[in-house]
Amino acid sequence: MSEEAIVIVGAGHAGVQAAVRLHELEWPGRILIVEEQAGDTYERPPLSKEFLKAGAGEDVAPLRKEQYFADKGIERVTGSVAAIDRSARRVVLADGTALEYARLILAPGSSARSLKVPGGDLEGVHLLKTRDDARALRTALHPGARVVIVGAGYIGLEVAAAAAALGCDTTVLEFMDRVMSRVTSEPVSRFFEQVHASHGTRFVFGAAVTELRGEGRVEEVITADGATYPADVVVAGIGVVPRQELAAAAGLAVRDGILVDLDSRTSDPDVYAAGDATRLVDQQHGIDRRLESIQSAQAQAVNAANSIMGQPSARHEVPWFWTVQHGVRLQTAGLRLPEDEIVLRGDPASGKFAVLYLREGRLAAIDTVGSLADFISGKKLVAAGAALDPDLASDPAVKLSATVQEPVAQTR
Ligand code: NAI
Repeated sequence: MSEEAIVIVGAGHAGVQAAVRLHELEWPGRILIVEEQAGDTYERPPLSKEFLKAGAGEDVAPLRKEQYFADKGIERVTGSVAAIDRSARRVVLADGTALEYARLILAPGSSARSLKVPGGDLEGVHLLKTRDDARALRTALHPGARVVIVGAGYIGLEVAAAAAALGCDTTVLEFMDRVMSRVTSEPVSRFFEQVHASHGTRFVFGAAVTELRGEGRVEEVITADGATYPADVVVAGIGVVPRQELAAAAGLAVRDGILVDLDSRTSDPDVYAAGDATRLVDQQHGIDRRLESIQSAQAQAVNAANSIMGQPSARHEVPWFWTVQHGVRLQTAGLRLPEDEIVLRGDPASGKFAVLYLREGRLAAIDTVGSLADFISGKKLVAAGAALDPDLASDPAVKLSATVQEPVAQTR
């Protein structure tokens, strides 16, 4: 048996999936996962949801049980990677340990962007990325605490829901003019704003935070218009930054993400990358994007393993996302563009509706609220590039699949 090793850097959703797939495909050598801290392989989605709730347990589920790794002979090494030496084909850890690789898979993820303003590092200012971050935040969210959340994206809104449910006095300051503007359209944004407002959360749009003030710990947040928001707790949910430094230092191609192809290969054919740290570029299909999603991270990891084992790449599935806020679930399939035609399906006031995004008459993406059937059907129709009759599709009484029509004008 070959003792050649595959070294996987990062034990998140992408890293673990790569190891699982390599084992399934019977890689004949060693499989080593390097994790920054022992026990880094845990589920992330609950951290901004259930984990923050009153009475939640002390821990989150591991991605795989310890026994799984032991049974499959997948080795785990704790340490921080200091450098990748591509010519010697090895990674060097901060403590000097060198790990030789036949193939390398980079899955270092992303870091939460911090507030780069005076006072941004005062005590009481939180980010939410790791289990430790979530533990610290949970301790701070006590009833009556004045919580100012900066950013109305997924993190900001999920934390706002948890904070409001815990009895905190909650204010969200968002730079743009509506919530979740990066990921969804106006009708969905306004709907979720109302959901939060009905639980007492205040929103301030067009808010640019310029300073945090306090004696030792944060006491108030100042915005560019001079307004002041008293705060016991500040949470910054202002996006993530791909962790590409190691790859860049090793001379791999990076551009707001480690550049990878459809096989998850970087600019070095022996080095692969998957997950939040990557940017997928495929000129033939006009793809150039960075996706922050577990499902995409896992698909990239599977493709890296497939490629290493000489298997064809799995087709890239339609990207999908979900969030739950105050018990209301938003499910998205596909990637919308701001210029897509919007078709509203159902009345948001009913709490059950969908927004369809048509591009040249074809379903490019769908957002659904409280409608699993539309999500499942919509995802298939997005994958098929189905052309929909917009009038029919706007009627929730008509099954989505029954609204498919022949495209009026074939574009190619
Ligand atoms: P995000 O990109 O979703 O949202 C960031 C928000 O902050 C945007 O609305 C942006 O306009 C705003 N913003 C940026 N700078 C600002 C500033 N200086 N002042 C005020 N507002 C500002 O990023 P978020 O929410 O931090 O999430 C981080 C990551 O975690 C993403 O990868 C996200 O996909 C992931 N995540 C996903 C969840 C889900 O899928 N349900 C749940 C939680 C996190």
